[in-house]
Amino acid sequence: MNTEHERRLTVRLDGEPIYDIVLTETFSGLGEELKKLGCEKKKLCIVTDSNVAAIYLEEIKKVASDCCRAVTSYVFPAGEENKNLDTVRGVYEHLIENKFDRKDYLIALGGGVVGDLCGFTAATYLRGVGFIQIPTTLLSQVDSSIGGKTGVDFDAYKNMVGAFHMPKLVYTNVSVLKSLPEEQFSNGMGEVIKHGLIRDKAYFEWILENLDTIMERKPEVLRPLVEGSNLIKREVVEIDPTEQNERATLNFGHTLGHAVEKLMDFKLLHGHCVALGTLAAMNLCAKRGLVSEIDVERYRLSMERCHMPMKISGLSAKDIIAATKNDKKMEAGVIKFILLDQLGHAYIDRTVTDEEMEQALSSIM
Ligand code: GLY
Repeated sequence: MNTEHERRLTVRLDGEPIYDIVLTETFSGLGEELKKLGCEKKKLCIVTDSNVAAIYLEEIKKVASDCCRAVTSYVFPAGEENKNLDTVRGVYEHLIENKFDRKDYLIALGGGVVGDLCGFTAATYLRGVGFIQIPTTLLSQVDSSIGGKTGVDFDAYKNMVGAFHMPKLVYTNVSVLKSLPEEQFSNGMGEVIKHGLIRDKAYFEWILENLDTIMERKPEVLRPLVEGSNLIKREVVEIDPTEQNERATLNFGHTLGHAVEKLMDFKLLHGHCVALGTLAAMNLCAKRGLVSEIDVERYRLSMERCHMPMKISGLSAKDIIAATKNDKKMEAGVIKFILLDQLGHAYIDRTVTDEEMEQALSSIM
């Protein structure tokens, strides 16, 4: 611990430190972090969307301008529909016009869409330049900013084009969560609770015990909440950075969740779809005798307390199951379904049948 209000988690690959996650409650320490990365000699381009730019761009620009050679920004219209190669092209043009070279950095300031798109641009511009994540939503702070997955959607295919490209720094100011729209906070909670279920029962129990304070976003719980999730995600991506095996356990709830998300034309938030998929998967686990009915009920109640949607309507189980077969996480035509063999431990299962999925779906329909 560096100060009472700051934590630093180092992400290592093969034992070598690759980047730090700085968890703090202000943007005031960002300048020091940029200096440590040698930014005095670099140009920086802050990539962000129209929503986030209106709130944080000027502040970040000011901090960065005080310690970098030059700072520019590229703002694109907010929305998943802009997470595509056209927007990436716009950023490339901006970087070329402003003569960015291989030593210069990009900053992803925003939620998952910005982080994924900026990261992908950084992975491919001049065969790869450095980038920094400044995540501003709960979902991006606990999940998408960590682990180097970058990418964009291609036509109707989500995250179809991408690359693994590790950031140089993740700078997480948890105080921004206080002003996040409630729906967005609830969205992030889908991934937060999932982290506890797949890897850390004690963290899951802590969330349940503190759920009222968490949902009130009391400052004393925000940092431990994000830190607990970051520790779990870090552990998984250090073991398996390119998702050969273990990292797939992060996809708990995603097989059915993604199918629902796609069939709903992405009108339901990602974290909510994952939570619904998780509830169905928990029911499947209970049916196999892997977790207890009480565990399923505790999870269901946690969703309710996080104001998540509890049911989907307008879709058929048949269509959802059919959509799971197109998931890009299939392997040689077999679905890699993530199950729990106990609360707090996930594993990859290749034997889940359509009948089991249909039965599990009945709990969310
Ligand atoms: N969001 C899942 C992963 O990073 O692997």
